[in-house]
Amino acid sequence: MSSQPPKPIYREVKSGRTLEVFSTAGDLFLAAAFKVSSILDACLQNKPFCTIALSGGSTPKRLYELLAQGKGGHIDWKRVQIFFSDERNVPPDDLESNFRMAKESFLGAGLVPESNVHRIHGEYSADEAAKGYEEEIRKVLGDNPSFDLILLGLGPDGHTASLFPESPALNEKEKLVVGNRVAKLNADRITFSYPLLNTASCVLFLASGADKSRIARAVLNGDGNFPSQRVNPTKGDLIWMLDKDSASGYMNNG
Ligand code: 6PG
Repeated sequence: MSSQPPKPIYREVKSGRTLEVFSTAGDLFLAAAFKVSSILDACLQNKPFCTIALSGGSTPKRLYELLAQGKGGHIDWKRVQIFFSDERNVPPDDLESNFRMAKESFLGAGLVPESNVHRIHGEYSADEAAKGYEEEIRKVLGDNPSFDLILLGLGPDGHTASLFPESPALNEKEKLVVGNRVAKLNADRITFSYPLLNTASCVLFLASGADKSRIARAVLNGDGNFPSQRVNPTKGDLIWMLDKDSASGYMNNG
């Protein structure tokens, strides 16, 4: 097992954002496993427990599998509280469920005590699930919650979590977790809001594959007005990790 993370082929720090590009998807996800491990480990030097919010979709699946195999270094999962940055409005055993994906690729390995896993109750109505989840976050993290690490992905339309273009949740200024009607999917979602995302100590975006090249270029260049561009932790770190394919647009046109 490699004891060192893969090195990025490109790295830049620009207006508070760190971007690392890796040669292959394999290197990206292994480097991400090391990154998660080092962030959580550093946090656990100073606190009894730390908190991470997992992202959904398909991108992070490989990362979760690596975490389940202990790649990236040792993490004292007994001291890590695991949440989700969004969920589909479906039961936990639904093929669409982000919880199901995380359980099958990582949480089912038994490294994380079940009591440390806080899933969004997608089987409830979106608003009920969101209200209950915000209460759970406040119970664990306190009244001014700040996640130590939030993982996020990038949708082809520039959405992140379940903050989709032109969806109501984009305008939420108070609540930390909201139900969100996504008209184009004809579906309800439950999602962290910007007020919660932007209090994180660290937000880590992962994007892989050529199909993300165009949107990654636009988002990273600040072109257009995409939901993922509004994630920028007030006091925390913003890190983007891409592979060569998803970064090709940005790297070529910068
Ligand atoms: C979800 C995610 C969503 C995801 C992007 C990228 O619930 O689907 O939270 O924001 O990260 O849609 O999805 P892929 O990783 O499948 O490309």
